[in-house]
Amino acid sequence: MVHKYDAIIIGAGGTGLMAALYASRGVRVAVLTKMYPTRSHTGTAQGGIGAALGNHEEDRPEWHTFDTIKGSDYLADQDAARIMCYEAVDVVYELEHMGLPFNRTEEGKIAQRPFGGHTNNETRQPVRRACYAADRTGHMILQTLYQQCIKQHVTFFNEFQVLDLIVEDGLARGVVALEITTGELHVFHAKAVLFATGGWGKVWQITSNAHSLTGDGPAVALRRGIPLEDMEFFQFHPTGIYKMGILITEGVRGEGGVLINNEGERFMERYAPTIKDLASRDITSRAIYLEVREGRGIDGKDYVYLDVRPETANKYFDLDGKRNPDGTPRRITAADIRAKLPDIADFTRTYLGIDPVTQPMPVQPTAHYAMGGIPTDIHGRVVMDEENTVLSGFYAAGETACVSVHGANRLGTNSLVDILVFGRRSGIDMMRYCQEADFTPLPDEPEAFAREQVESLRARPEGGERVADIRSQMQRVMMDHVAVFREQPGIQEALDVLSDLQERYQRISIDDKGSQYNTDLLEAWELGALLDIAQVTAAAALNRTESRGAHSREDCPKRDDAEWLKHSLAYRAAGRIELRYKPVTIVDYPPKERVY
Ligand code: FUM
Repeated sequence: MVHKYDAIIIGAGGTGLMAALYASRGVRVAVLTKMYPTRSHTGTAQGGIGAALGNHEEDRPEWHTFDTIKGSDYLADQDAARIMCYEAVDVVYELEHMGLPFNRTEEGKIAQRPFGGHTNNETRQPVRRACYAADRTGHMILQTLYQQCIKQHVTFFNEFQVLDLIVEDGLARGVVALEITTGELHVFHAKAVLFATGGWGKVWQITSNAHSLTGDGPAVALRRGIPLEDMEFFQFHPTGIYKMGILITEGVRGEGGVLINNEGERFMERYAPTIKDLASRDITSRAIYLEVREGRGIDGKDYVYLDVRPETANKYFDLDGKRNPDGTPRRITAADIRAKLPDIADFTRTYLGIDPVTQPMPVQPTAHYAMGGIPTDIHGRVVMDEENTVLSGFYAAGETACVSVHGANRLGTNSLVDILVFGRRSGIDMMRYCQEADFTPLPDEPEAFAREQVESLRARPEGGERVADIRSQMQRVMMDHVAVFREQPGIQEALDVLSDLQERYQRISIDDKGSQYNTDLLEAWELGALLDIAQVTAAAALNRTESRGAHSREDCPKRDDAEWLKHSLAYRAAGRIELRYKPVTIVDYPPKERVY
């Protein structure tokens, strides 16, 4: 079946919905999503969206820009970071006007809380910049944007899995997708295509990401000769629920929670003496690993406590001299925890039998967010090389893209800013592009490559390799060797294992040969995407012989600006990975040492 729309958007998270909202003001748009839109992963974003509104104390978009660049370990492109931090303010008010139920200050303004790495640039102290709706900020964004899209009659194709990008003669012309309910292949002919498919945390064993986060968009792009940028940088959020990886928002620390080791010590004082538990995520995750490695994990195990009990938080407020604007000592109560962190209280009760009001929470770093992805310019247009040559008609934005605003390490709350600012910019540019461009013809048999992928998975003989085995071996080796800390022999071992797993993947068999709701087939296809992404990640990590942001090489512990202040571009052809590099855009902030 062939459908024809001006613009096709893949993914119905915050990026896809924001882009759809804007593009559909001028052209015919359809959104394809493998889930139902309101189940997209944006819905799990908890603690807030960063914007320098200054509703509690002085704040400026310029400070947000600098914090983002410093947080990125100077790998962010500074023009893009500036755009993001300045447009963040407008995006938050736009959400408010759409009806998003933000928490409020006593005067009725949007309430804000501190988050890691967000500071007053003069005092270096944390500043309240994260605008929040309890600990359900992403959920509220998703619901709000979806309602707006429905109001605007955006067409949705729910439960459609993208399998291929149709691209010929340097022009994107549509996509091929599998209708999950029927197993039928559909061709979507379009003038412009936007990938907003989210991240790929499922490459790792412990992750905050849902099962659907399998890197589909980047894998499809890679197979069509499009490079992936800065794939060696993947963020581990410091506080996932022990063993499960489910996110415990940084908002807990924003509200006064502290990280505690087996000796009862608030150990972040040693790693980030000025902002302590609100240091950037790369530094905090490494601190937890180091505590564990030095035997100070709880009961000698590989986790620490996140403690937001009022008696603990209030003790450290006093020790840190934290005060309210009226000069009274800052305090948190049991009622505050229940009102501002209701989902956290619910998760810990459900999964651990723990009430955070009376008990500390066991946490460990969890694979959370991709800093790298499909390279784009500031309008979301995909670029192909060191010269930033645009691939006409192809856009990417949000976590699946690399614009690059996060560089080597993203600050908390900047994910929601990124997806909305660049979702909006992509939607606007797609509309302009579609209004000026004509449809170009589809190639003969546009679905051929997608059909070959699906049929070859279905046709494998029985008794072959199991998808679940290969996936868990991939996740384990990536967790062991390409996670918070890395070094050459371990990364090489990961690459060797991955190459073996790629061979075994050719011999997998699936049990369900049917058409309708064949999740067996889908999981097999997704595993192929994950393996490709894992290989590119490990190859880029091996090549980068320095430590920067989330890429911490124990054998090359220093940041090396002379050699490595550059973005990687990974291409894959005939199973081989080629790495090329392009410069970082530095505008106002030459690289400096990062001190928190
Ligand atoms: O901790 C959190 O609430 C996560 C936010 C983020 O990844 O930006």
